[in-house]
Amino acid sequence: MNKPVRKAVFPVAGLGTRFLPATKVMPKEMLPLVDRPLIQRAVEEAQEAGIEEFIFVSGRGKSLITQHFEIQPELRDELEKKDKLDLLEKLSHSDIPSGKVQITMQQRALGLGHAVWCAKNLVGDEPFAVFLVDVMTLGETGCMAQMIEAYNNVGGNIIATSPVPRDLTYKYGIVDVENEEKEVTAINAMVEKPDPKDAPSNLHILGRYILQPEIFTLLEERKVGAGGEIQLTDAMVRLMESQPFHSVKLKGETYDCGHHLGFIEANLAFALADPEFGEATYKILQKYIERDKNHAAA
Ligand code: UTP
Repeated sequence: MNKPVRKAVFPVAGLGTRFLPATKVMPKEMLPLVDRPLIQRAVEEAQEAGIEEFIFVSGRGKSLITQHFEIQPELRDELEKKDKLDLLEKLSHSDIPSGKVQITMQQRALGLGHAVWCAKNLVGDEPFAVFLVDVMTLGETGCMAQMIEAYNNVGGNIIATSPVPRDLTYKYGIVDVENEEKEVTAINAMVEKPDPKDAPSNLHILGRYILQPEIFTLLEERKVGAGGEIQLTDAMVRLMESQPFHSVKLKGETYDCGHHLGFIEANLAFALADPEFGEATYKILQKYIERDKNHAAA
């Protein structure tokens, strides 16, 4: 029987430089994807997967992120008085029960691997989930719920993956897997940004992980990797020498909200898929497409 995954780590201490100037003051993780900040969507995805404890690895100027999860009695009273029950219901989506949120600090943004290591004492000796909040997925079931289902069968460490066009593998971390066609398959190796002709598959590592606590011992060594940062991938490659890793191919779409165009596309995709905003967004898009067609024809 595999130990259950009860805790999730949200590393949110990065500098968000690709999204400047928007992220000069506003944490990237607080940017709204349609109607909710990215961090709320990630927490909801974790809740859907049955995660019970939420660990934020925070940094300088990031307190807005944890404030977002504070319950505001005055706001609730006001909404109740005004009978705005739909808004009250929406607000409740960001509720996390008392004692279930933990915050630790990464004093300097030394890399994702270092950020995950900062959660060591709060995670303890059990498997845990990691969410890169600037990656959002859209599908019938949340990405982490799909991963937990696979974890319950195969155990070990799990990495969510998704296909990218073959000619773009040089932009991503790519996995070398036993059987590229299967939804859940053993990982043999990981390659950082391979040239398309050398890429072992077209499955990229998208930013959701289930890891065993032994990863912390490897992260403890603080080995500096690509970009002068302590990389999570380097520690995972080492852990792979002694533990199984499986790839879970996401059933759904993935969006990189960490840069401007990816964020714009994600907003369009999420708005189009939203029961409340979908139809109206489609009409707006049509308006602009028609306008540009007319412009081109003139
Ligand atoms: P990114 O690789 O997107 O880095 O981190 P970043 O610093 O946020 O953004 P850029 O590259 O400068 O534009 C992925 C996730 O890991 C967190 C980030 O907050 C983000 O949610 N992270 C990254 C940390 O918590 N600490 C770090 O040292 C690096």
